[in-house]
Amino acid sequence: MLPKEEIRLQLVLLLLAIGPVLALAQPTSILAPYDQPYRPQYHFSPRENWTNDPNGLVYFEGEYHLFFQYNPFGDEWGHMTWGHAVSRDLVHWEQLPPAIPEENGIMIFTGSTVVDEHNTSGLCTNHKPCLVAIYTGHTPKNSGHPALQTQNLAFSNDRGRTWTKYSGNPVLDLHLPDFRDPKVFWSPQAGRWVMVVSLPNDHKVRIYGSADLKHWSALSEFGPAGATGGQWECPELFELPIERRPDETRWILKVGLNPGALQGGSGEQYFVGRFDGTRFINDNPVSETMWTDYGKDCYCALTFNNLPLGRPPVMIGWMNNWQYAKDLPTSPWRGQMTFPRSLRLRQTPEGLRLVQMPVDQFRQFEQKESEAGKTGTIEVVNRWLAANSALTKGRTFQLKAEIPLGTAQEVGWRILEGNGNYTIIGYDRKARKLFFDRSHSGQINNKNFLLRTEATLVLQKAVLRLNVLIDRSSVEIFVDDGRLAATNLVFPPAGANGIEVYAKDGQAGQISVHIAPIQSIWAAF
Ligand code: FRU
Repeated sequence: MLPKEEIRLQLVLLLLAIGPVLALAQPTSILAPYDQPYRPQYHFSPRENWTNDPNGLVYFEGEYHLFFQYNPFGDEWGHMTWGHAVSRDLVHWEQLPPAIPEENGIMIFTGSTVVDEHNTSGLCTNHKPCLVAIYTGHTPKNSGHPALQTQNLAFSNDRGRTWTKYSGNPVLDLHLPDFRDPKVFWSPQAGRWVMVVSLPNDHKVRIYGSADLKHWSALSEFGPAGATGGQWECPELFELPIERRPDETRWILKVGLNPGALQGGSGEQYFVGRFDGTRFINDNPVSETMWTDYGKDCYCALTFNNLPLGRPPVMIGWMNNWQYAKDLPTSPWRGQMTFPRSLRLRQTPEGLRLVQMPVDQFRQFEQKESEAGKTGTIEVVNRWLAANSALTKGRTFQLKAEIPLGTAQEVGWRILEGNGNYTIIGYDRKARKLFFDRSHSGQINNKNFLLRTEATLVLQKAVLRLNVLIDRSSVEIFVDDGRLAATNLVFPPAGANGIEVYAKDGQAGQISVHIAPIQSIWAAF
């Protein structure tokens, strides 16, 4: 055998010999970053460091792009940069290097990304569509100058892998310290790009139009309206189909509020109306306030641009609240996103209301063989839950359940239970309130966290019908196919993984429960 061939053979033999050892060694070193006690297993969180709002959600050439407010240098807010992750199915995410960095002291605040199909901006090369991000450039105030927020462009001609800031930035400058969070989309009604952007202290959303993304003219203003207890941030304007009325749509104008939201701190309200390409016309009286989420932890939610035609909007929010965001006991990352939600409008006796459910892609988890269910009295169901504790042990599962109230005055679920800790999802019949009680859920060093939150809810046929996503440190509740959503964080100590159903002051009917443990989406990393 020639010496070269011999060497090659030796190498092959060596690889065969150490292969299994390498394979065994890999998972521990590679899995570790996504396996800390509170690390979400099927929600996006950055591998390390701070994140807040989702930014620039866009679908392009088979990939969903999730950009996010990111501090590349630490686990507290600062040096805002657009972090970046991509997914082919809205479930499994791959984090890429940061997309648009802070530069010359100008931070990259929240914004959106569009697909410039016909190169209206002149920023696309090779006769192919490109991605254009529209973001707020934030120059902090310093001794000589007040803060400045302007709207700016960056573009990518390689499917979002590298980004260039437009040399003509800013494209919109009102010389204001607070003027931010542009959401841009192509409006067929108007035949131009439309931007909604916030004047936070005036409680106003400005609407601008542009033919080329570079030159913008003011079209109209909306607000003040609804809740005005804090700054208005992260506006969103999108068209939504109405359930069971195939040809009808309305427009939603969603606005973040911080502080002064329903449950304290940050939260979001929405208005239902029409958009004629120039202005948003509210269908309801100016005083009417509607909330997107009844928990404390869903903020600055954004919908994807450029989804395939006919698909309802998909939204992702930041699962957090500015009241305590910096105190979350997680490391080496801080901040996480909601599971992507599919949106619709539903006609209710009170009017048209936003409904949200986990996107259909979630079903891949539901159909797992290990999914299990039981129907019976409280005693029967609780015995079954105790015997099947493996289903909830990992604290990453979906709970789908119906509790007929029967004669009970209060019913609900005690979850993440153990060692004196528990979290309650309950319904108070007399008060007609769904409540979420995390006052005994676990420790976090902030008094605004350990609270009970409530939402008015008139039950259909006196049955509490829930779909709940639990993922180590988060609980997303969807009632009656999404007519009410409530998102909350929890930080239970090790061992708090029990679950029980309960009824007070009367007998509940036959309960049905389904539990699907959910596999980590990070197994490959
Ligand atoms: C909302 C927000 C936005 C801003 C960004 C800065 O959470 O305050 O208004 O663009 O965060 O990180």
